Amino acid sequence: MNHLSSLYEQLRPPTSLPGPGYFADQAKQVVFSMKGAVSLLCAAASLPLCSLPSTTQHHESNGQHPSELPYYGLSPPIYPTPVANGTSSSRWSSAYQHALSLTSQMTPFELQNLTRGYPGPCVGNTGAIPRLSIPPLCFYDGPTGVRGQELASAFPAGIHLAATWDSDLMYRYGRAVGAEYRGKGVNIALGPLAGPLGRVAKGGRNWEGLGSDPYLAGVGMGKIVEGVQGEGVIATAKHFLLNEQEYRRRWGQDAPGGEGHAISANVGDRTLREAYVWPFMDALKAGAGAVMCGYNRANHSYACQNSKLLNGVLKTELGFEGFVVSDWDGQMSGVASANSGLDVVMPRDGLWGEKLMEAVKNGSVAEERLNDMATRVLAAWLYAGQDDGTYPPVGVAPGGQLPDPVDVQEDHADLIREIGAAGTVLVKNVNGTLPLTKPKFLAVYGYDAIVKSTPWENPDRYGGGYDVNRGWTTFNGTLITGGGSGSSTPPYVVSPFEALSHRVRADRGMLRWDFHSANPSQQYLNADACLVFINAYASEMSDRPALSDAFSDDLVANIASWCSQTIVVVHSAGIRLVDPWISHPNVTAVLMAGLPGQESGNSLVDILYGDVNPSGRLPYTIAKRESDYGTLLNPSTGQPDGDEFFPEDNFPEGLHIDYRYFDRHPGITPRFEFGFGLSYTTFSYSDLEIYVSSNIAPGGGVEETMMPSSSFAATTRFRFPELPDPDTPIKQGGHPDLWETLLVVRCSVENTGDKYEGSEVAQLYVGIPPSDEEEEDEKETPVRQLRGFKRVGPLAPGEEGGAEFALTRRDLSVWDVEVQQWRLRRGEYKVWVGASSRDLRLSGTFEI
Ligand code: BGC
Repeated sequence: MNHLSSLYEQLRPPTSLPGPGYFADQAKQVVFSMKGAVSLLCAAASLPLCSLPSTTQHHESNGQHPSELPYYGLSPPIYPTPVANGTSSSRWSSAYQHALSLTSQMTPFELQNLTRGYPGPCVGNTGAIPRLSIPPLCFYDGPTGVRGQELASAFPAGIHLAATWDSDLMYRYGRAVGAEYRGKGVNIALGPLAGPLGRVAKGGRNWEGLGSDPYLAGVGMGKIVEGVQGEGVIATAKHFLLNEQEYRRRWGQDAPGGEGHAISANVGDRTLREAYVWPFMDALKAGAGAVMCGYNRANHSYACQNSKLLNGVLKTELGFEGFVVSDWDGQMSGVASANSGLDVVMPRDGLWGEKLMEAVKNGSVAEERLNDMATRVLAAWLYAGQDDGTYPPVGVAPGGQLPDPVDVQEDHADLIREIGAAGTVLVKNVNGTLPLTKPKFLAVYGYDAIVKSTPWENPDRYGGGYDVNRGWTTFNGTLITGGGSGSSTPPYVVSPFEALSHRVRADRGMLRWDFHSANPSQQYLNADACLVFINAYASEMSDRPALSDAFSDDLVANIASWCSQTIVVVHSAGIRLVDPWISHPNVTAVLMAGLPGQESGNSLVDILYGDVNPSGRLPYTIAKRESDYGTLLNPSTGQPDGDEFFPEDNFPEGLHIDYRYFDRHPGITPRFEFGFGLSYTTFSYSDLEIYVSSNIAPGGGVEETMMPSSSFAATTRFRFPELPDPDTPIKQGGHPDLWETLLVVRCSVENTGDKYEGSEVAQLYVGIPPSDEEEEDEKETPVRQLRGFKRVGPLAPGEEGGAEFALTRRDLSVWDVEVQQWRLRRGEYKVWVGASSRDLRLSGTFEI
């Protein structure tokens, strides 16, 4: 142990998450503050003044643990934390006026009491201030509904919602989820999630998020926040930032001997903004009152004490008015986290509580900082309108059992069923297999067709997860949710088999089944079709062992070897490979049915029988084989970039994740690309048009050449200022100009089939021109990026509908690392509208 660490060893409180990170970041605080003036921390802690380490010093092992000094300063120090004051809107402003009037009356103890957790009924509970009528605030998981409680719904997971590509459903989802939190008296919902974004194909928590594209995830984040907060519940956008893998996501976890730092996600400025910060911007723009920082390190500094991310990006660039809460036990330092922008520690006092008051008293943390922490918490509470005396009392309990639980389900089952169907993706359908037309005889196979027989070992977490098993590839029963804190706790589950039974009964047909055999040999002469149900599981705390499993693949192949109408249904917590059987001529239909929530079977039967025409689209790319994902397949072990004790991952692919990666590697053709999905009907696209938005103030955007209205035969040049107006103040969500619509793209979509009504998801992709340097060098800018989508319909056969896409300044800009601002590129932009990231039906260009 090095000298500095042993000094801090004496200071270390006996608390849940000790570790070298604590020493490091205390020490880092010393470095930063010394850079400015005097080391308040050292002085305050009465330490002999610490000898300042050099940031260029070589990494060397000194005793038991290697030194972390070489890593200091690699994430730029941004101090102090901006003091929020509610300038984003009149609603924030009045919340702040009120909050400040309360905090100005509080003692230091009361102020810090709002910044820490206590044991209580909720996953997280802040302290109360009874004399000012401030109750303890209740935090609860999330994000797929109120987890672990009775008489609350099990909503589809984020990845399933993303597969709907329907912003209206995303909003209604948020609203319904929000109503349930409110009904249970939960003040702060621990969702939605866009970190992980899904960079790592086997990532254990990708299913909690909204797909592997920042734009798609951003729309989802914005709409969910709008919905949740529309019910008066504070939404928490999590995990900020770069928590892209479960392996070594936190200190000690998975590390040899349980000691060693969390992986450091090292990302450049441009990738940071354009990929990972992006969806959080939407959440903030929609008013999110809380952000949860992650367990991981980012550019070598723990995310919950990373001053660049919290003080710099979140609270300065994005003008965040709410509060930052640590992930549970994710605080790694006391003074450093306070000064870096953390506002609330959970689930207990961590390294704050009494110690935070002491730090304020001795000057290590400014009084203003403590005031700001507490004011931010109260402002979010007031912004949500939870102070008016009508907020329901807390109706949750650890373990989920109360004598008389409040029923918050309302009619959400209908919405769950609708989203379940809307997010189901049809990827193969030949010989007119689907929709089924009153089949008389269906044979059903596979472990995923029925509910698990014993899923309640832990009443708080349906089907287990990290508390039961960290290495499952499949779930032994129908899969409706993943595992861990993001799993749901269904009041019931309609299995596929149950829903099929109802349907077959109504049709006076018959069913035969075998849920168990690996190679069901019984062949039925009169079976119309064989339905095979398989799944792919994932859980918090471990990444997935594989993207497929041999048992399930063999099961499909075995049945397809003799059943000429084999329909495969895959419930999966993310990417699931299908190549071992997808081209088999007897596999005539395949549905990627995601994680649909409690109405699973009903949603599926709606699709199978054509009551709902599938319009779900993949929110990620399914490759032909695992190795096709290259370095994006597995979580990083953190080496050789880093070492065993300080693992790191340099994100060498930059912006090229998911479909962007495949677009950059033309030799690797995906099996089913991002945005892909079939319908029971067909659509054609026509009449691509582009306009300067009528929102643009006169002179703000000028169209230089008139363009034929129906095609892009001529390139049109638009003129806009390259940078946002430097004199406009920042509001929550980022510079207001970024959200301004500059251009509008339109096209027509027609249902060209003759039988079925259906909806089409029209997708807009933009190719931002590469810079001159990029032309010569390695290309940083992806070939194309999603910048709009619209579920058009339902359209009757022959009916035409329109899709309109608004392109904002952000959509057309890149992050300029020199200017540290979003900048429009001068040059030729490409535009495509189509049915997937590769099925591009219309194209054109324009110039800025
Ligand atoms: C997870 C968070 C979750 C928290 C509380 C953590 O382990 O990473 O997403 O909200 O626990 O359950």
